[in-house]
Amino acid sequence: MVSRVIPVEPFDLIIFGGTGDLARRKILPALFRRFCDGQMEGGGRIIGAARTELDGDAYRQFVQEAIVEFVTDQRCEPAAIAKFLKTVSYVTLDARGDTGWNALAGMTDPSHVRAFYFSVGPSLFGDLAERLRDYGMGGGEARIVVEKPFGRDQQTAEELNATLARHFDESQIYRIDHYLGKETVQNLMAIRFGNMLFEPLWNSQYIDHIQFTVAETVGVAGREEYYDRAGAMRDMVQNHMMQLLCLIAMEPPAKFDPDAVRDEKLKVIRALDHVTPDDIVRGQYLDDGDRPGYLETVGDAKSNTESFVALKAHISNWRWAGTPFYLRTGKRLRARTSEIAVVFKDAPHSIFGAEAGRHRNILTIVLQPNEGIELGVTIKEPGPGGMRLVDVPLDMSFAEALGPDTQFAADAYERLIMDVIRGNQTLFMRGDEVEAAWAWTDPIIKEWLEGGATPLPYDSGSSGPTEALALMHRDGRRWREIRK
Ligand code: BG6
Repeated sequence: MVSRVIPVEPFDLIIFGGTGDLARRKILPALFRRFCDGQMEGGGRIIGAARTELDGDAYRQFVQEAIVEFVTDQRCEPAAIAKFLKTVSYVTLDARGDTGWNALAGMTDPSHVRAFYFSVGPSLFGDLAERLRDYGMGGGEARIVVEKPFGRDQQTAEELNATLARHFDESQIYRIDHYLGKETVQNLMAIRFGNMLFEPLWNSQYIDHIQFTVAETVGVAGREEYYDRAGAMRDMVQNHMMQLLCLIAMEPPAKFDPDAVRDEKLKVIRALDHVTPDDIVRGQYLDDGDRPGYLETVGDAKSNTESFVALKAHISNWRWAGTPFYLRTGKRLRARTSEIAVVFKDAPHSIFGAEAGRHRNILTIVLQPNEGIELGVTIKEPGPGGMRLVDVPLDMSFAEALGPDTQFAADAYERLIMDVIRGNQTLFMRGDEVEAAWAWTDPIIKEWLEGGATPLPYDSGSSGPTEALALMHRDGRRWREIRK
């Protein structure tokens, strides 16, 4: 597959928090890859901005090291790095004071798209937005990019939205949920709305339930402080899993256009029922001999924060009434895998009799690591001796079908940053969407805190607490295995 890369228009990308971890691990490597693919040929400039006193050369050295460490494919050639570094500069800047702002204004070109990436804590969002306005950088094609966590509840999200709205229009604000930049996540829309095959069956009449699994093998070491204040519900469910749920459950938008898509997602969030504690299992991982457990890692033997959550949700609308959505995510699980399994109902009547067993079609969409879709189809077991049925997969690995080196393997940040430059907000969360997601999450968290229940322990390397299995068993269903 030959990829078609269309260079974007000239831009200045300013990274506030330019010496931080996200810049090093994600933003700079993503920009370098886009540069190597020719997408910055129209003229792209990158300006790192942070409090640290550095000169341009020292920052370029930092960028070079980030690329060498985090771009591990063959594209990391010294000549390409040297060329890329010519686009990079740096300004020492104080988000809360006046240092550096005039210099920054002088370094950017008002005739370019100017994208300001707030790769800093939310407490600085207001200061940055205000100064960008004050120093005359908020107009023209100015855009701001903000990272999660976007608030820690509805109130803080509303406050953040109000703060940003004082200085920027919603059409200029790009709230990142990096799951939306994953190629296969976007594929959910292509699969649903680009094929005639699935959509007529995509409702509670034909679908028994849908299960979402985002399993990780990593623990929380290195992010203890953030994570222990967040937990799996805030860290993964309120944003990433909510986005997956929306894309699976939403009505077809009339157009593939930012507001048409986001309007439909918002309707899904608003139609979600409250989830009671009976339909939720929370867990905390134990040590595995080599690595400490959750409580030791966060250094608080009484922490009530969950590193695992499984829940059953319902969407109260015509399409989905009666079809449960099971969501689970956790750290230190058996394998790193993210998948969505759409489990269809049994055929209404089995002409083959009870001995043929129970068979169901399952459409599995694998988001990572081996992106692809698999459709389980029931056929006759080959050979003589009667009519026995067996389920076989109609299996499509995207890498096999499209070639392993397609853009499809690109990091989510590559696509999202280029979308910011292109001015396409489709894959970014709108303010009302984030608030609605918190409005659903908040009472769930409040209820479990009031109930006083503590998370259940689970073994590192397992599939989570056994109670999570029971959550489905009691409904006569079961989770798909977390496959290594
Ligand atoms: C982040 C969460 O947003 O997503 C992390 O804060 C999590 O806790 C990560 O590990 C998962 O992202 P991915 O792309 O590795 O599935």
